[in-house]
Amino acid sequence: MKATAISPANIAFIKYWGRLDHQLFLPVSTTNSMNLDACLATTTVEFNSSWKKDQVVIADDIGQERKVTPQGGQKDQNIFHTLDRMRKLAKFKGGAKVYSKLTFPVGAGIASSAAGLSALVGAGYAALGLREQKVDDPQELSREIRLSGSVSAARSSHDGFTEHLFAKNHQGAYTVQIAPPNHWDLVDLVAVVARQEKKISSALGHELADSSPFWNARLDYLSGKATKTKEAILQKDFLKLAKLAQDDTLNMHAVMMTSTPRALYFTAGTMQILKAIESWQDNEGWPVFFTIDAGANVHVITTQDFKDVIYKALSQCSMVQSILVNNPAIGLRITDHHIF
Ligand code: PMV
Repeated sequence: MKATAISPANIAFIKYWGRLDHQLFLPVSTTNSMNLDACLATTTVEFNSSWKKDQVVIADDIGQERKVTPQGGQKDQNIFHTLDRMRKLAKFKGGAKVYSKLTFPVGAGIASSAAGLSALVGAGYAALGLREQKVDDPQELSREIRLSGSVSAARSSHDGFTEHLFAKNHQGAYTVQIAPPNHWDLVDLVAVVARQEKKISSALGHELADSSPFWNARLDYLSGKATKTKEAILQKDFLKLAKLAQDDTLNMHAVMMTSTPRALYFTAGTMQILKAIESWQDNEGWPVFFTIDAGANVHVITTQDFKDVIYKALSQCSMVQSILVNNPAIGLRITDHHIF
């Protein structure tokens, strides 16, 4: 009873922060994103009826392994709840062994939980013999992934540019494709300025969001934004997408910074890149914009034609430690290449 899945992380343009329902993990609006081909999680899951306990290990891009326990934070607990949920649905009793390998830093705002939880659910259901019901139907897969605790993970269930639809109930909230990966040759250069795990995980941050005095203002602001962003993607309108995505980033971070306790993710490195991008936009006229998830690292979006120019300019920013070059990617898939 073993299976392996590969899932990409994604970068959100209209972002998910805060929830309508904390049990069903229902977001407060439709959110959308692009899958990233260089930020992948490969996860092998094996179930065995003679095992009493679960063993979960996550390894990052430099081979650092972390044993995950149910006593960990919210993010770690989501993994064990997900294993329990899958076992219950499959009427299986026994333990699981999970090994997840990522190609990028973990917990640093590059959507490691999106890639990791999505691959866990795909591999888990395939290992339990529920591939047809739960994995091969991408809408149902996306609902199941959302229940693992991450809406961003649910967006990785489909290829390319995707959106997770807003609904007030479980059935209505699922992911659909906006466009396939080859629709638009956008490039996401992730400027890594911090590798360490953030203090407030997104799993916890969602519970804090409505403590911000700007929460209601964000809800008003979000109205119609996902539709406009979808149009910008379909029309390949770079400037329209740039404005929507940058505004949404700053709007979301205003909520993060003002929640109690606050989730202040920006560092001096983040600001260095934001100011550099502002000057490239204003003084050079390069097609480039920023977007930032729950972390310090900056996703720098440009087109294939400008990839080398932006890469070079980013390399000259003193606080950039490394750059991950991403093209739009396919979503979750099952593979025969097991890690163990
Ligand atoms: O889905 P989660 O719980 O990993 O939260 C994602 C939060 C953001 O990355 C900040 C936004 C998003 O929509 O990806």
